[in-house]
Amino acid sequence: MTGPELHIPGGTVLVIDYGGQYTHLIARRLRELGVLALIEPYTRIKRVDLSKYSAIVLSGSHRSVLGRDEIAENSAVRVLYETRVPVLGICFGHQLVARVLGGVVKSGCGEYGRVLVRVVEQDALFHEWNSEEYVWMSHSDCVVEPPPGSSVLAVSENGVIAALKLVVNERPIYTVQFHPEVSHTPKGLLLLDSFLEISKLRREWRREYYYNYVLVEIEKYKSIEGPVVAAVSGGVDSTVAAVLARRVFGERLLPVFVDHGLFREGEPEEVVEMLRGIGLEPLVVNAQERFLSKLEGVRDCEKRREIVGNEFALVFSGIMEREGARAFVQGTTYPDIVESGATGVAGKIKTHHNVAGLPAWFREKYTVIEPLKYLYKDEVREIARLLNLPDYFTKRHPFPGPGLAVRIIGNFTRKKLEICKKASAIVERILRKHGIYDQVWQAFAVVGDDTWIGVKGDARRVGYIVTVRIVESSDAMTADYARIPYSVLDEISREITRSVDDVTMVTYAVTTKPPSTIEPC
Ligand code: XMP
Repeated sequence: MTGPELHIPGGTVLVIDYGGQYTHLIARRLRELGVLALIEPYTRIKRVDLSKYSAIVLSGSHRSVLGRDEIAENSAVRVLYETRVPVLGICFGHQLVARVLGGVVKSGCGEYGRVLVRVVEQDALFHEWNSEEYVWMSHSDCVVEPPPGSSVLAVSENGVIAALKLVVNERPIYTVQFHPEVSHTPKGLLLLDSFLEISKLRREWRREYYYNYVLVEIEKYKSIEGPVVAAVSGGVDSTVAAVLARRVFGERLLPVFVDHGLFREGEPEEVVEMLRGIGLEPLVVNAQERFLSKLEGVRDCEKRREIVGNEFALVFSGIMEREGARAFVQGTTYPDIVESGATGVAGKIKTHHNVAGLPAWFREKYTVIEPLKYLYKDEVREIARLLNLPDYFTKRHPFPGPGLAVRIIGNFTRKKLEICKKASAIVERILRKHGIYDQVWQAFAVVGDDTWIGVKGDARRVGYIVTVRIVESSDAMTADYARIPYSVLDEISREITRSVDDVTMVTYAVTTKPPSTIEPC
């Protein structure tokens, strides 16, 4: 974590970021376990004082170690030979360590999602693990020959080496092919906890520091004069950012709600009322027509995100000029940044509208304040609870900034948008009725171009296919589809085909993230 000084005595872990999608999650899990973890990109390791750290973790990456990256290899060599603290290599980190120490890595042995591993040699790292446990894998290469002198601690059901141990400089080096940091490795947190035990780290980091961290972050901008515009959408992120910004800027803070026409049924009215209820009376801008007319006929979803980002910037810029505001607050969180490839070392998955999608000119012209950008949704929810915000905000499902524009596959049409709105409302209503809504991470409907021949009222009908996606997750970085009772799925299907014209088939998406993402595009 960069930003205000938050160093806590008692031992710090260094997480080296090789560009993995979950790097920040590793640091976050370690913080959950009571230890401050800081992240440095691998490209900077040459200049980092490694003696400050009591343990080092090497992250995953979207790249392959077979691509021979000298800077990455040198960073691992430094860690292995110039320090004497325990090391944990994860996924790419596992392969990098193996390769640097003389092992062999090859491609074409990928494993994705839930995989069973067998612990073949007991070790303190696997404390309280059964001999067989499920883990989360996401790799295309694997170690086929372990480095000389290493022990294989675990093997996957596909015969892939899942964990190794070596001793270099008289301290243990552990490597694991799977991701202990994601919630879909049920005993992953336990493994990280054991690694901290092995590293003899004292647990002195407290979660309340997040709250202070965010306030400290906003206070840095207190001297900015004039009004400060805060983009609010009713989601927990932008609400928390605006509430805290109000504490710092007082009445100078101007919350603005831009209605882009891509919200769910009834949402804009509801959001404005709820924001009013917590004292954030927003300026409401109806910009439906300008967004929809630009999106119409656009097939490429990334292009649509760009359009939404651009339009947002133009609309907000217009308001800021009118009000004489120079600073802009938004609730960007870490997954938005990492998926947009904006950490500098990670690969781009999607252009989140508020990060890579926000045009450079806007960031140059105004001061963009993003106080939550190192936090995850559940950490933001925790701050929301500390602030006593109503359940409406804390329990709300995440909703993408570009709204339903990312839930339409293929050509963007107003007709598909209408179908998407109606079908999504049905999914939410039925899940609420059965008490399932609060138990899942997100639940929505998606519409594509594919059709299915139906019979409605004895006549042939060519109708759209609506895909229902309901997922469980704790941070949106990984997700699993929710095991909804068939009777509920049946009710959803019947209701959508009955009341949404032009829909003749409802399907249920049963793929995890990875390899899928949560939203369709
Ligand atoms: P994916 O689809 O990448 O989504 O698995 C991860 C989380 O991010 C949300 N999401 C977005 N949020 N702007 C946002 O503000 C976006 O462009 C965007 N795309 C996806 C998604 O709903 C999920 O919670």
